[in-house]
Amino acid sequence: MTDPASQLNEMEQRLKQLEDQLFQAQRLSSVGALASSITHEFNNILTTVINYARMGLRHQDDATRTRSFERILAAGQRASKITTGMLAYARNTSDRQEPADLKRLLDDVLVLVQKDLQMHRIAVDLDVPGSVWARVNSSQIQQILMNLIVNARQAMSENGRLKLVIRDNAEEGWAEISVGDTGCGIPRDQLPHIFDAFYTTKKADARGQGGTGLGLSLCRRIVDAHKGRIRVESEIGKGTTFTLKLPRSESPSGFIDTSAA
Ligand SMILES: Nc1ncnc2c1ncn2[C@@H]1O[C@H](COP(=O)(O)OP(=O)(O)OP(=O)(O)O)[C@@H](O)[C@H]1O
Ligand SMILES: [Mg+2]
Repeated sequence: MTDPASQLNEMEQRLKQLEDQLFQAQRLSSVGALASSITHEFNNILTTVINYARMGLRHQDDATRTRSFERILAAGQRASKITTGMLAYARNTSDRQEPADLKRLLDDVLVLVQKDLQMHRIAVDLDVPGSVWARVNSSQIQQILMNLIVNARQAMSENGRLKLVIRDNAEEGWAEISVGDTGCGIPRDQLPHIFDAFYTTKKADARGQGGTGLGLSLCRRIVDAHKGRIRVESEIGKGTTFTLKLPRSESPSGFIDTSAA
């Protein structure tokens, strides 16, 4: 018979495995919310490729052919950016926390959600002061951002506004990122429950997407694993803002930011 200590150890390992699987399943289901917009975008890209290929075949002059190839190349590169982003997002990764630039993490998530926002006529305000570094597990933070942005979009009708802000709060040692919307807001009596597992006010749509109520509960667990904070401010009819505070880190030495405009 195995002793109680090793039984406990086994159960703890099993729990950890199940937890990892839950995170991964939630990660894939959050991408599922984007399936229709991404399919739409690929259709547009294919239309561009087909039309310019036809044009290049019809008009044999060098100028038209070059222009056609340029358009086809740009469309192909756009498609490749989306599939690369999708694969990187869906890939199961380790728990390792290391310095990462929050701006880059946000940009990678935006590549995936952009079309969805555009299809719902949601404007995006970005307030990002160049690079801000935090000690994080990149793919977990992207999972949080994806969940918060999808929630924000679902809370807004057309012509809403998504506000994304990154702040370097050196005084308090936080790297902060917030996701605000101009959506329906959260009633005061619901606020204490939104981080509970399986708490949802949404019905699953025709494809069974949405409304598991796991999004925010996993966000909170990820934030706890980072010894960070997540807070929410909300006003009915005005909107909601979630703010994440993550342990700040200095940019790794030798890294030169060439992306700052
Ligand atoms: N930005 C927001 N505006 C208004 N309500 C929100 C917002 N974000 C979350 N909520 C509320 O919190 C609840 C829980 O959110 P959570 O992301 O955990 O689950 P869900 O979005 O309902 O389901 P899933 O994430 O599986 O699609 C939501 O059902 C909604 O009532
Ligand atoms: Mg959600």
